[in-house]
Amino acid sequence: MQIGVLKCKNEPLVAIIPKGVATLIQMGHQVQVEKGAGVESLYFDKGYSEQGAKISDRNTIIKTSDVLITVSGLKISELRKAKEGAFLIGKFHMDAEKKLIEIADARDIYVFNLELIPRSSIAQSMDILSSQGSLSGYKAVISAADRFQGYMSMMTTAAGTIPPARVLILGAGVAGLQAIATARRLGAVVEAFDVRSAVREEVESLGATFIEVEGGQEDSSAGGYAIKQSEEYIKRQQDLIHERASISDVVITTALIPRKKAPVLIKKRTVDAMMPGSVIVDLASEAGGNCELTVDGREIVYSNVTIIGDSKLYHKLPYEASRKFNNNVINFIKFVFRDKHNGSKVDFDHDILKSTLLHLPKVNLQSAS
Ligand code: NAI
Repeated sequence: MQIGVLKCKNEPLVAIIPKGVATLIQMGHQVQVEKGAGVESLYFDKGYSEQGAKISDRNTIIKTSDVLITVSGLKISELRKAKEGAFLIGKFHMDAEKKLIEIADARDIYVFNLELIPRSSIAQSMDILSSQGSLSGYKAVISAADRFQGYMSMMTTAAGTIPPARVLILGAGVAGLQAIATARRLGAVVEAFDVRSAVREEVESLGATFIEVEGGQEDSSAGGYAIKQSEEYIKRQQDLIHERASISDVVITTALIPRKKAPVLIKKRTVDAMMPGSVIVDLASEAGGNCELTVDGREIVYSNVTIIGDSKLYHKLPYEASRKFNNNVINFIKFVFRDKHNGSKVDFDHDILKSTLLHLPKVNLQSAS
């Protein structure tokens, strides 16, 4: 197959790195890469050519590829030019999906949204949300440590002993757990909170204290995700967080409920009670923020507390983020086309494909019937 790698125009990442080109060629494919596709993440055209890719222009790649790969940001007008029956792999914003499906349907294009990979063990190696979440959790702690005016670890010096920083993590999913691990490695004392009681063990195994509000609602049919909590529960949660945040130097918030507004866990009164110089990093900012004062995409200082609102902190590590995205995409391609060399059809009934495929083109529905 002819595989085309497009430059992502709205994120500093590239979907396939030179090492990935080598893997795809070993698998028997040909690869063309858009000129300058990896520049922002420090993967240069020369590296791609050395691994056997052809450097080409965007228009040619879109028109001639059997499989088109991008991180995000393919325009609808561009999709109209893609080959009939082509596969498009990337992540696509919900607002764009409806239009995308219309065009894909008209052109018999298979669109796979990697943000919809199921959170299962078998799909773990293809899970871009985990890759990005983990990088963001790490960078949240590093960013906070950079703004915080004290040490993260305990220091015993001739001038006296300095206690370690106190870090509070709200939401112990992928990003939160990585934030706990990073803060612990830096020597901080860490507390973490999550509505899912199942994460207590993971939190404690990383050396943090799990703080709990009784009565959280969980739903086993939510695929491991949290569900919206009652007003009464959120109020009790806010009170406990108020108490813990007012003695913390750093608060990292990651609490999300899929496709809903993020829960507000830190009210203005809590920020007012925090110590001067403390730092909040709100990774839920794009979904409205876990802190009432968060401004998405901005760093503000309110009453001597720095509040960073950034759901895309993985953008600050584009080299590593691209490498992880590349690995996830390569694993996905290997999985999708695993039986193709035997002349078998792609198994569109598999859970991983059913979850990620935005629609099944008419041509396939006809051949299936
Ligand atoms: P997420 O990004 O949707 O949410 C982050 C965290 O916020 C979650 O742990 C959630 O429980 C928590 N949260 C939501 N509302 C809250 C509230 N009011 N107060 C405190 N915390 C709150 O979650 P993420 O990181 O995407 O993980 C979702 C699930 O998927 C988890 O169960 C995770 O273990 C699972 N997972 C499984 C994988 C696999 O088996 N391959 C890979 C990655 C995640």
